[in-house]
Amino acid sequence: MKPALIDDASSLAPWSGCAFVPTMGALHEGHASLIRSAARTGRPVVVSIFVNPTQFGPSEDFARYPRTLDADLVTCAAAGAAAVFVPSVEAIYPRGLEAAREEAANLPLPAVATQPRLEDACRPGHFAGVVQVVTRLFELVRPAAAHFGEKDWQQLRVITDMVEMHPTRFDGLRIVPEPTVREDNGLAMSSRNRYLEPCQIEAARGLSRALQVACAAQHPGTAEALMHGTLEEHGLEVQYAVVRSARSLMPVQGFEAPTRGLIAAKLGNVRLIDTMALPIWR
Ligand code: PAJ
Repeated sequence: MKPALIDDASSLAPWSGCAFVPTMGALHEGHASLIRSAARTGRPVVVSIFVNPTQFGPSEDFARYPRTLDADLVTCAAAGAAAVFVPSVEAIYPRGLEAAREEAANLPLPAVATQPRLEDACRPGHFAGVVQVVTRLFELVRPAAAHFGEKDWQQLRVITDMVEMHPTRFDGLRIVPEPTVREDNGLAMSSRNRYLEPCQIEAARGLSRALQVACAAQHPGTAEALMHGTLEEHGLEVQYAVVRSARSLMPVQGFEAPTRGLIAAKLGNVRLIDTMALPIWR
């Protein structure tokens, strides 16, 4: 069935208690799998599509971020969404963008948004914008559960801790992690993959290959060295390639805790990230 299209926050009241999938659109199979998983809970699924200006840095791709609403609505319908919320900037930030940016800069953030020196260091202000928009969306939509992809692992950890920081504010909201969906060639699906030229795909596969190599390593230090080697062999410019505690995202001594490999690398102007759970060694 065709999902209800909602562009006015005042029409959201009947959807409280839904399963919620926040997105920035340019939907792909990764987003669709989040929507399908949310639909399996039996709750009506609300998807939001909003390219949030406050989470993009001044030199980032906000203006050229792909906007494909018609195709996105088809994807939402096929994956089982009951409603699609497409708010205006004014609906999300009624006091204007300048005030919103100022507010974002002063938001209290969980430690995982500021201490690991991963996305937080590469994209200053990014998580403040994410926390700001996700808080606002949660308050408008009032979901019972919200589904987030593990691909953006630090974002998932930030949102989970943010909700835990405010136990009463979000009314028992559950944050549900969803596995990363990949192309057959291993490349993690991303709206930004559309920026890649066909001849760059082979190089982009370096991220998932590096993480696979890390999975076979005997020690975190070795894993990091192997990841760097693989990324460089693929001609990627490494921003970080690390083994961290899956929970705190801080450095670990061994593979004793749940750990993850996390990578950010650039291919020309395109910035790619990927992550995988690493085996636990004793
Ligand atoms: P966006 O990049 O559109 O991603 C929306 C959701 O889809 C996020 O939870 C993301 O982790 C998930 N996702 C993206 N690629 C995926 C893949 N290959 N497999 C599984 N899940 C995937 O993340 C954002 O938007 C924004 O920061 C947002 C949370 C909407 C706030 O603006």
